[in-house]
Amino acid sequence: ERLPELLRRIPKAELHIHIEGSLEPELIFSLAARNGVALPYDSVEALRAAYAFSDLQSFLDIYYAGASVLLHEADFHDMAWAYLQRAAADGVRRAEIFFDPQTHTERGVPIGTVIAGLSAALTKARAELGVDADLILCFLRHLSEEAAFETLDAALPYRDHFIGIGLDSSERGHPPSKFERVFARGRALGLHVVAHAGEEGPPAYIIEALDLLQTERIDHGVRCVDDPALVARLAAERMPLTVCPLSNVKLCVYPTMAEHKLPALLDAGLCATINSDDPAYFGGYMNQNWLDTFAALPQLGAREAWQLAANSFEAAFADADRKAAWR
Ligand code: ADE
Ligand code: ZN
Repeated sequence: ERLPELLRRIPKAELHIHIEGSLEPELIFSLAARNGVALPYDSVEALRAAYAFSDLQSFLDIYYAGASVLLHEADFHDMAWAYLQRAAADGVRRAEIFFDPQTHTERGVPIGTVIAGLSAALTKARAELGVDADLILCFLRHLSEEAAFETLDAALPYRDHFIGIGLDSSERGHPPSKFERVFARGRALGLHVVAHAGEEGPPAYIIEALDLLQTERIDHGVRCVDDPALVARLAAERMPLTVCPLSNVKLCVYPTMAEHKLPALLDAGLCATINSDDPAYFGGYMNQNWLDTFAALPQLGAREAWQLAANSFEAAFADADRKAAWR
């Protein structure tokens, strides 16, 4: 088969990966043992069996519980290093990696511990794996604006260790407008700006992310198809969408992969990309997403593969010289 081989080998950028979502059940159990954390599951198999989700919130409840084993700098390092090795094997040359500091600071883990561990793994990946990776700090949108401001303040001593800010967690009921002021502060600090919008939430949340947060990319964004004028705007602005096909199926945004709207997004001229979101929870890393998406959607062929890879580099946060080194 020539197409799967192309999909595996083609150089690509991953722009939507939550590092806490790369925590495999085996690593959760080994970190729990190392740190003396009790888990409400008897075995790796029992934990994995709980990965049957009906919507975003049913996933988030288990995802935050899994992250409770992360306590020390080495834990964050080991998690990120495991992801980066898998990314390198999948032809990922550039990774822009989300992390959720509030998931850890709420449990008493200092933000400096989180950032130091992740950052060390990224430095090692640049040297040893040829993966150019950077961090994007995400605010949990189910928490308050004030908590987001406190998180940004706490991260400022480590300003050189992350390139942007994002917005994730429970989308419905937590519109981008709730975080307009903290995003303005982030932009004033010279940080890149992205936000999850239009995963489960309505097209209006995508419009808020663009107009109020002034995002440079939209994470997910697939529900833009409910608003043709918005699709036209996203295409005209070449506003990237970081689409996560396996995630969308596991979280029941689409009943099956065959019903995914990625082909329609590409046909509309959108800068859509393929990403893994939370690969340990959704059934696969970058290449599994590419392979399953192309297998289920016969409209997608080699031309679309090259387009998606080009889109991922276009949408990445780096200057042209740095981008040239990834291809
Ligand atoms: N956090 C981790 N994965 C997420 C997703 N798919 N949507 C919102 N928040 C998340
Ligand atoms: Zn996400």
